[in-house]
Amino acid sequence: MTSYASALRKDDPRIRQLFDVEAETLHGGSMLIDDPFPAINRLRNEGPVHKGSIAKLIGYPENAFRHHLPERTTYSAFSFAAVSRAFIENQTYSSKVWNLFEGSAARGDSMLEKVGMEHRRIRDPIQPFFSPEAAESWWSDKVIAETVETLISEIERKREADLFLELCARMPVHVVSAGFGFDAEEIIPFRIALHDSARATATAQERQDAQQTVKRMLTRLIERRRRGPENDIVTKLTQAEVTEEDGTTRPFTTEEIIANCWLIVLAGGGTTWRQLGITLFALLNHPEQFEILRGDRGLIPRVVLESARWHATDLMFPRLVVKDAVLEGVEIPAGALLHLCLGAANRDPTRWENPDKFDITRPVQRSVAFGGGPHSCLGQHVSRQEMVLALNAVMDRLPNLRWDPSKAPAKLVGGIFQRGPTGLPVLFG
Ligand code: HEM
Repeated sequence: MTSYASALRKDDPRIRQLFDVEAETLHGGSMLIDDPFPAINRLRNEGPVHKGSIAKLIGYPENAFRHHLPERTTYSAFSFAAVSRAFIENQTYSSKVWNLFEGSAARGDSMLEKVGMEHRRIRDPIQPFFSPEAAESWWSDKVIAETVETLISEIERKREADLFLELCARMPVHVVSAGFGFDAEEIIPFRIALHDSARATATAQERQDAQQTVKRMLTRLIERRRRGPENDIVTKLTQAEVTEEDGTTRPFTTEEIIANCWLIVLAGGGTTWRQLGITLFALLNHPEQFEILRGDRGLIPRVVLESARWHATDLMFPRLVVKDAVLEGVEIPAGALLHLCLGAANRDPTRWENPDKFDITRPVQRSVAFGGGPHSCLGQHVSRQEMVLALNAVMDRLPNLRWDPSKAPAKLVGGIFQRGPTGLPVLFG
């Protein structure tokens, strides 16, 4: 069996194919957009909530981005107050919206599309494995510290690198997959199957085959762990207990474990990759802030939050309005689709001074980069811990880090969903 460290040390061409923000956007069936902020900021300044989809409101075709339902009237929320409230009031602005998109149907019911007690029943037994304490101890000791050490040791032997591929991409997919219990040689095939299971450019047959592969690989792992428990998340899930409405308890079914593992491994391998990339992109473009950080490492957790506020990797999430509602003074009828524009909300000038500026010294205030309310990001502490260790390693081991002027300048790309840099070509030493 290949060890995790030797798999990580191997140059793998599949990483370049899987972790390319522009290709991922197009494969997701979305158009590319250069800089959405001028348009979404203008809309937020004109009013907290508008009738129309984000795409239409910023001058793109109705189906330009994901999370589009042509048969439903669509509204979009832009202010911090409106987006935050819609995240919190999940019984009105419902997460059942995810059931209306193809991806959820294939995965089965995960916590993402559940509401109220149904959601709590599934999320509560899983939450402790992703708490701040678990992130800083179990996740860090089991997999994050070693992953970062292995990757940075490979990088530091050279004088140049693309940190977006060699560090930002490789770390989270490895951390979340190894944390769940996949063997080293299963990690990339599983990611390819996850990717293909929802790829808009694949045929229906290819998508179905990939969905079967995801299910087969997860079922095999769950059965292995039921027979012989290990120290990993899949084992923990096979041993966890769900509390029913009448107070009785039962184990998770295999289908429930599959749906939730599918969701968590997919989310965990994609978002942190792009968000760490955005963080390093912002620091490299603001050398004076990088200097402040080098002088005060205690600011690192703040940097992660500021980068997610300034430019979250996902600038939009959807909700289904299930009862007639009034959101920040705007009436929205039951049955409407609601787009929550996190990007505009996180730069709301009524909450942040000079909000377009990336500023690691600004006072910390909660943003909606990790959502909010009952569905707020389950993996946020694991993600932050990964980014904290990775940023520390970059500052410890890659002195005099700077852009590589011989390479095309990096820029932030993607759709409204799933944004990140084109690359992070750097020199050091
Ligand atoms: C910087 C990285 C990340 C960002 C910006 C992010 C953002 C978000 C957001 C905005 C939501 C809310 C979705 C909704 O309300 O519909 C969410 C939910 C979720 N995230 Fe993350 N996420 C990140 C990393 C991760 C990681 C590393 C994991 C797993 C290890 C993860 C797992 C999840 C799960 C399972 C949910 C659904 C929770 C629920 O429905 O109760 N995320 N994330």
